[in-house]
Amino acid sequence: MPTFLLPLEPVTSIDAYLATGVGRAGVETAQRIGPAATIDMITRSGLRGRGGGGFPTGRKWAGIASQTGSRRYVVSNGAEGEPGTFKDRALLRANPYQFVEGVIIAAFAVDAEEAFICLKASFEREIAGVTRAVQEMQTAGICTECTVNIVAGPDEYLFGEEKAMLEVIEGKPPLPRWFPPYEHGLFASGPQEGWESGPGRTRGGGPNPTLVNNVETLSNVPHILARGVDWFRSMGTVDSPGTVVATVVGDVVAPDVGEIELGTPLRAVIDGVGSGVHPGRTVKAVFSGVANPVVTADQLDVPVSYEGFSAIGSGMGAAGFIVYDDTACMVDTAYRMSRFLYIESCGQCPPCKIGSGEITTLLEGIETGAGGDTDIARIGAWLDRVTDGNRCYLAVEERLVVSSILRAFSDEFVEHIERHACPRPERRPIPKLLDLANGVATYDERFWSKQPDWTYS
Ligand SMILES: Cc1cc2nc3c(=O)[nH]c(=O)nc-3n(C[C@H](O)[C@H](O)[C@H](O)COP(=O)(O)O)c2cc1C
Ligand code: SF4
Repeated sequence: MPTFLLPLEPVTSIDAYLATGVGRAGVETAQRIGPAATIDMITRSGLRGRGGGGFPTGRKWAGIASQTGSRRYVVSNGAEGEPGTFKDRALLRANPYQFVEGVIIAAFAVDAEEAFICLKASFEREIAGVTRAVQEMQTAGICTECTVNIVAGPDEYLFGEEKAMLEVIEGKPPLPRWFPPYEHGLFASGPQEGWESGPGRTRGGGPNPTLVNNVETLSNVPHILARGVDWFRSMGTVDSPGTVVATVVGDVVAPDVGEIELGTPLRAVIDGVGSGVHPGRTVKAVFSGVANPVVTADQLDVPVSYEGFSAIGSGMGAAGFIVYDDTACMVDTAYRMSRFLYIESCGQCPPCKIGSGEITTLLEGIETGAGGDTDIARIGAWLDRVTDGNRCYLAVEERLVVSSILRAFSDEFVEHIERHACPRPERRPIPKLLDLANGVATYDERFWSKQPDWTYS
């Protein structure tokens, strides 16, 4: 299948982008047909958000555009903090211009005052590429009067959570506020919905509904406008049209990123993008980030699509797949994923921080051979309560990931408790990716020393 989001050769200049036939054609189509028809095209295309939730993009845009009488903003989410995911950085390296054009079209469609592109400050290469693309596109006359701001954010996982991202844009730490961006957007007035008690930075005196979309979601947009709904729907499935940029890391021969047609079986994605598991090994478990229930070896024929993953009780997430082979310990995996979520939890909702901390400690005890008969029940009790009063989805991730591992690999927990030791002591780091190139994944080794208060020991 020919790919369109990830070209074979990176697009590194505006001239190269214009030569693709898509550059500028997306914006021109939007301007010709107007905002309402642009939103209608995105709705009919069936494009769904690639940030993890799969929410229909056109419906999101229509909801923002319908809220007149207040300022509106566009935020593009390039935080890419999900372990096992590198696709947004791969896209920005391969073609930042299609993404910036998508931002401009989204701002036009919802009549936004300004757009904010949010990337981690540590993504220096991507920030440089996007900054250049914005300047070149404005010089080329593609939306000269658009205000596009680039925000360099913190490394915390929660920076990518949309309610926390709005806080960061307003100059505050990444602590999710209560209401979603379409209700309480950027610089909105009204009651303090953030974490602090002082006055916020308000503009315009309204709710300022704010559209938040992922980098990959927006990168699809100029192609749909330029080539049409039928072209986009000729790929993928009825409920998940198009392609997705998948990341495959973990126990595979050559970790990598690749654009695949939605609906491709997971097994083929692991083999095609990650070159499969090592000779003599088999797949034991696959996780889409740390946000969804485990996929087990008997489920590898699942189509990589929103409905495919939902049918097996999991979620496709941001299509960042972490593969574990038959030598991996699933108790250790549960411990490390729980620890990641515990460390990254912000603590605004006590059951989330305390519960994920207790679960992590109990899992560590079982993993190191110190676990007892009642520990599984104690973990279960915390899993029931960890989401109480949660402001954001991180607490749900803790529940989904840990409970799914407990269910699918209960025998390994029993084995640890009975033997008072781990039978599979080979350790895997949490694949928080710093880089991914030429079949080599570089993980953030520093993460292990991160403390629950976000300092580093
Ligand atoms: C803890 C947490 C971390 C998240 N991190 C990211 C991220 O790094 N990038 C992203 O696009 N979405 C992330 N999301 C999802 C966003 O909140 C939001 O749903 C998404 O950006 C919407 O864009 P989309 O509709 O285009 O998918 C995260 C959500 C949670 C709960
Ligand atoms: S659910 Fe957890 S991570 Fe989310 S806001 Fe509450 S304490 Fe913070």
